[in-house]
Amino acid sequence: MISVVIVGTGNVAQNLFQAFYKVPDIEIKQVLGRNEIHLAFAKEKVSINTDFSRIPTADIYILAVSDDSIGEVAEKFKDLDGLVVHTSGATSIEVLHKCNRAGIFYPLQTFTKGKIISFETIPICIETKNKKDLELLQNLGKTLSDTVIEINSEQRKILHVSAVFVNNFTNYLYTIGADICKESNIDFKLLQPLIKETAAKLDDLTPYESQTGPAKRGDQKTVHKHLQLIKSTHQRELYTLLSNAIKEKHGKEL
Ligand SMILES: NC(=O)c1ccc[n+]([C@@H]2O[C@H](COP(=O)([O-])OP(=O)(O)OC[C@H]3O[C@@H](n4cnc5c(N)ncnc54)[C@H](OP(=O)(O)O)[C@@H]3O)[C@@H](O)[C@H]2O)c1
Repeated sequence: MISVVIVGTGNVAQNLFQAFYKVPDIEIKQVLGRNEIHLAFAKEKVSINTDFSRIPTADIYILAVSDDSIGEVAEKFKDLDGLVVHTSGATSIEVLHKCNRAGIFYPLQTFTKGKIISFETIPICIETKNKKDLELLQNLGKTLSDTVIEINSEQRKILHVSAVFVNNFTNYLYTIGADICKESNIDFKLLQPLIKETAAKLDDLTPYESQTGPAKRGDQKTVHKHLQLIKSTHQRELYTLLSNAIKEKHGKEL
């Protein structure tokens, strides 16, 4: 049995709570957050607390709080014996330097609190300051996921940069696609099979091999026609920037 305190009330905290709550080998001692209303998701099931000066004893404290607040929140845990971990991809383990035992428990996935997802296939990237804590964190990860992998702070930061490209930026491009459809009264959902297949292709091909489109083919006339159709200057700039990047990568002259 591993006992945990989850700190935070947002996307990651709520997903971790729902996942750990189903695991018989995990005891959620408490969910801790500064805002009682935001703690409502856990209220009926486990102890909740807004008082950071009354933290119960646990094996692991999971700080699922915003990147910028991790250091400040960690201060409240510096005298405790348990392992204190944060869940951030972009933040070094050093932010927990005042804690007796420190680690990282970074689930490499996008989470939204209204959408509870299974952790089974989500890689969980772990790191611990003391080698002897690694096994404990591995055991915690394995209760949720088939893929628990040791990754140091430098590698994790790089992984996070890559994640921003493949997730956050791609999603912003979806937003542009949705806006363009809306302007012409076209249902964006028509593009969903295309979106899904683009991701599914990566099961068998590399991103480089998967690339298609006018820029990759060198279809200059199509590129120019698209640029004439796009009304927003910002969208035209992005279209040109990305087309040039694809052209450069695939060595086509437009
Ligand atoms: N969302 C993702 O897809 C994702 C994926 C992997 C890792 N992560 C990482 O997981 C962590 C949490 O992300 P999230 O998306 O769950 O964030 P979020 O939904 O914005 O929630 C942030 C949480 O931090 C709390 N908080 C902020 N400042 C605080 C302070 N000074 N003291 C106490 N609590 C404070 C907030 O409390 P209140 O609501 O009470 O203000 C809230 O519970 C981040 O480190 C993030 O990088 C996120």
